[in-house]
Amino acid sequence: MTAKNHLCYVHLCCLFLFITSFVMQGYCPSRSAVAKFRAEAVYIEFMKQWNVGVYFSLRFQEIAGSLDSALLIPIQILHSDKGNSQHLTLNQSATLLECLMSCWREDVLVLSCSDKFLRLSLQLISRYSHWVSAGLAARKAGNAGSTPGSEWAISAVPDDFIYIIHDLNCLAERICGDFLGHVVEVLSSSSSEVLDLVKQSILEGGASLKDLKPKVINSIIQTVVEKSVEDLKQLKGITATYRMTNKPLPVRHSPYVSGVLRPLKTLLDGERATAYLTRDIRDELVQGAALEITGRYYELAADLVSVVSTKITISNPIGE
Ligand SMILES: *[C@@H]1O[C@H](CO)[C@@H](O)[C@H](O)[C@H]1NC(C)=O
Repeated sequence: MTAKNHLCYVHLCCLFLFITSFVMQGYCPSRSAVAKFRAEAVYIEFMKQWNVGVYFSLRFQEIAGSLDSALLIPIQILHSDKGNSQHLTLNQSATLLECLMSCWREDVLVLSCSDKFLRLSLQLISRYSHWVSAGLAARKAGNAGSTPGSEWAISAVPDDFIYIIHDLNCLAERICGDFLGHVVEVLSSSSSEVLDLVKQSILEGGASLKDLKPKVINSIIQTVVEKSVEDLKQLKGITATYRMTNKPLPVRHSPYVSGVLRPLKTLLDGERATAYLTRDIRDELVQGAALEITGRYYELAADLVSVVSTKITISNPIGE
């Protein structure tokens, strides 16, 4: 809580205690009793009616705050059970869904400011989405830089991104499915015009999560490619091996060749990939990685050939 909110909270408590002191003298002797009291349904009801704006801002802090703290911890895996791919796998994703749901819970929502709760819901989705993209950007740059909350991605391994992809899919489905259904039901007394806008904005929120998938896939590809390129660099050894030796021409591929696609294969054969990657995403990963690796292979080979032919031209300028 910021100082201002704390003051506001204390102020409200005092006011409330003053009002209720007639009936409850000495009921809140300590801070913890105040906190307990604050959680009481009667208090919440009172707050709702007393000042909806203040009530909303307290709820905002509570709900947005709980997502924010989940997004500040390293990624935490909840379910690694293979079979149940309907489940969200990360604490962060489960927290987002919980927060979204709590905006529309009967004991939280005040219908007269449902527009604010809708905006909060969309903000929550956007915070989560920012958490993913800031992480990916930090990973690409190789450091968390000045973006707090992106540290998780620096230490993440490609397998962790498989969970992210799974959760993005799963969240998009839940948001556009039962969450949207619930919100529409709660707002069923609104005009169809309003309902359409609400639906549209929630569907867009869900879609924005799905839109992050290519970026995550790309990030996995980059990691795999970097590992492969480590092996590919052995290509340079070819000149040393065959320079001024009487080695016979090779009849087998060079040893590095079989290592080039190994990082990709290891990833795809892994437990997480087997359990959580859809066919489409596997295909995308394979194609993306293969394209990139062959591209880098080509560059390295072309460089090598050009260096060697320059040397030959220099040492044998007449070309006898
Ligand atoms: C996420 O992690 C936090 C901190 O470890 C924990 O308090 C919270 O209950 C977890 N949330 C879920 C949905 O598991």
